[in-house]
Amino acid sequence: MEHLISLHDLTVEDFESIFKLAEKLKRQQKEGIPHHLLKGKTLGMIFTKSSTRTRVSFEVGMYQLGGYPLFLSANDIQLGRGETIYDTAQVLSRYVDGIMIRTFAQSDVEDLARYGNVPVINGLTDLMHPCQILADLFTIYEHKGTLKGLKLAYVGDGNNVANSLLHGCAKVGMDIAVASPKGYECDSRIVEEAKEDAKASGANILLTEDPEEAIKDADVVYTDTWVSMGQESEKEERIKVFMPYQVNNTLFSKAHEDAIFLHCLPAYRGYEVTEDVIDGSQSVIFDEAENRLHVQKAIMALLMGNK
Ligand code: CP
Ligand code: NVA
Repeated sequence: MEHLISLHDLTVEDFESIFKLAEKLKRQQKEGIPHHLLKGKTLGMIFTKSSTRTRVSFEVGMYQLGGYPLFLSANDIQLGRGETIYDTAQVLSRYVDGIMIRTFAQSDVEDLARYGNVPVINGLTDLMHPCQILADLFTIYEHKGTLKGLKLAYVGDGNNVANSLLHGCAKVGMDIAVASPKGYECDSRIVEEAKEDAKASGANILLTEDPEEAIKDADVVYTDTWVSMGQESEKEERIKVFMPYQVNNTLFSKAHEDAIFLHCLPAYRGYEVTEDVIDGSQSVIFDEAENRLHVQKAIMALLMGNK
């Protein structure tokens, strides 16, 4: 594992190493045991979109590992004024030991890795959100004790989160059903990649327009915003299209009775999910958010630590 750009690039062993180290680092952090695996290392964090969880968890995580994080808002660095990804990659590689980037185009993340000489971590693009899904799978494992053989139902927009869930579930052998309206399905190339991995892992993949079909027998129910960053102008139209995909108690009660509810956050209560579900006893959204910290610390240590 050289970079963390797409979950499809990772092996099953990479997933296992990340989870194993995340578990250890979580325990060490809770017990106050120092774990300075990245002492003296620096992480550049480029953001061209907003963030609460990603920024704070990477920044705090780097500090806890004994390293130093630099927040680089695209508005403040020359990239935002047209400096190329090529030059940015070359220059940053002379200063920092790793780069985390949150941006629009997946190709910008790939180019950063191609032209630079340090590990690159994808902190969300329009196409994928791999760090989120690694934290999600770790959270599911903590609550259910296994991943293989479980069923996750994702109801809503076939967006970056849904795409990476397809990649992640297929890799670890977890069944996944995605219900999204026509015209808002997951990326077709990612569906093909997930199907390829599902053959090896034994996972079942179901793509449907019917939320009830997706949620039947689900152990995990997941949704995300209907209006991702960059889609603000489509908000009114999207709310109309997605209303039948709202995860409310009526729909949630059709999953297994011990199903857990996940949402990457930020959530818009009353739209993609109702308060009774997201604030209910089966919701694990804050464990999920916390695990961004532990899982990303493992990712950074594995990518940037002394080999
Ligand atoms: N889930 C997530 O990535 O949150 P932020 O947009 O706050 O980073
Ligand atoms: N799909 C959302 C996820 C936010 C963490 C977005 O891209 O805005």
